[in-house]
Amino acid sequence: MKALVYLGSNRKSLEDRPKPALAAPTDAIVKMTRTTICGTDLHILKGDVPTCMPGRILGHEGVGVVDSVGAGVTAFKVGDPVLISCVSACGKCVNCRRQMYSHCIAGGWILGNSIDGTQAEFVRIPHADMSLYPIPPGADEEALVMLSDILPTALECGVLNGRVQPGSAVAIVGSGPIGLAALLTAKFYSPAELIMIDLDEGRLAVAKRFGATATINSGDGDAAAAAAVMKLTEQRGVDTAIEAVGVPATFELCQQIIAAGGTIANIGVHGTKVDLHLESLWDRNISITTRLVDTVSTPMLLKTLCSRQLDPRPLITHRFKLDRVLEAYETFANATTTHALKVLIET
Ligand SMILES: NC(=O)c1ccc[n+]([C@@H]2O[C@H](COP(=O)([O-])OP(=O)(O)OC[C@H]3O[C@@H](n4cnc5c(N)ncnc54)[C@H](O)[C@@H]3O)[C@@H](O)[C@H]2O)c1
Ligand SMILES: [Zn+2]
Ligand SMILES: [Zn+2]
Repeated sequence: MKALVYLGSNRKSLEDRPKPALAAPTDAIVKMTRTTICGTDLHILKGDVPTCMPGRILGHEGVGVVDSVGAGVTAFKVGDPVLISCVSACGKCVNCRRQMYSHCIAGGWILGNSIDGTQAEFVRIPHADMSLYPIPPGADEEALVMLSDILPTALECGVLNGRVQPGSAVAIVGSGPIGLAALLTAKFYSPAELIMIDLDEGRLAVAKRFGATATINSGDGDAAAAAAVMKLTEQRGVDTAIEAVGVPATFELCQQIIAAGGTIANIGVHGTKVDLHLESLWDRNISITTRLVDTVSTPMLLKTLCSRQLDPRPLITHRFKLDRVLEAYETFANATTTHALKVLIET
């Protein structure tokens, strides 16, 4: 089968690999129909994720059809259309029993990280009963690809951890697919201000169309962006600052714009250290949260998507066949010129 393989810092290639086989009774093999590329895949290529070793097939998102199941899989059978969760969960360990699936002792975020992932014709899914979701009849399979990772990540790590509430002021730093998914899911809670910050005017324009109340280009530096947020909030700052980039500058900006009593909710994958300014924050009654997506909200998001309360389709900007996956990466990584958000890869 064809697969996109990580070869080490900034190197990847489309290679021929053997089709994966069942390795445990709880495994399923899924024939991929659609996958996509995440900002985290770009972090892996930058060398920010040391658990992902050269030789790994990348990808942790997608939909497909069950190709085979182990004897211990009871919820799925061959031929079932399925949504793949970016997090694999055994459902039984101490962390799964707390619904902290991202830290499953026998799973967690392993797909396209410490085991081979979804940017291939077939993928082995461990703990299939807990890590796959049946696709309801008539569901839009392209839209469902946004449910593997970006929507639950944005909702759980950003909106829920950030305690977005009716009438609150929210700033989302980073207007990539994750930041925009945070914007879409923050709207469930009717905040009064939804300020989107990015360097890319194209992505800020999309944010406006998605319902941002204001957009700020932080290209003039953090100080100017922070001043703009303070001006928009009558010098209070925001109740929730969602970090959706994963670089020091954006986490520092969140620290500058957080209101007293507010919450900084980090989503970004960070590969380098970031300063914590306790000298200015110690008396501000703030909270800082971090989280690896648990995908506990996937069943709820599936309902909002099928009932059209949530429409992630505008996040999909490009479509490629798997044999053009390298071009898909170039397109996604150069969003300023290509205006890419999520690039779908059909296998
Ligand atoms: N915590 C989790 O479980 C989890 C899950 C999935 C993704 N992530 C992380 O979320 C982050 C966002 O993912 P994505 O797919 O949207 O990535 P992306 O790379 O497509 O988007 C990042 C956005 O940040 C903007 N940006 C870069 N530097 C900036 C700066 N200094 N100021 C303002 N904006 C800046 C870029 O223009 C881009 O629009 C990544 O770090 C990704 O690894 C975390
Ligand atoms: Zn991801
Ligand atoms: Zn577990």
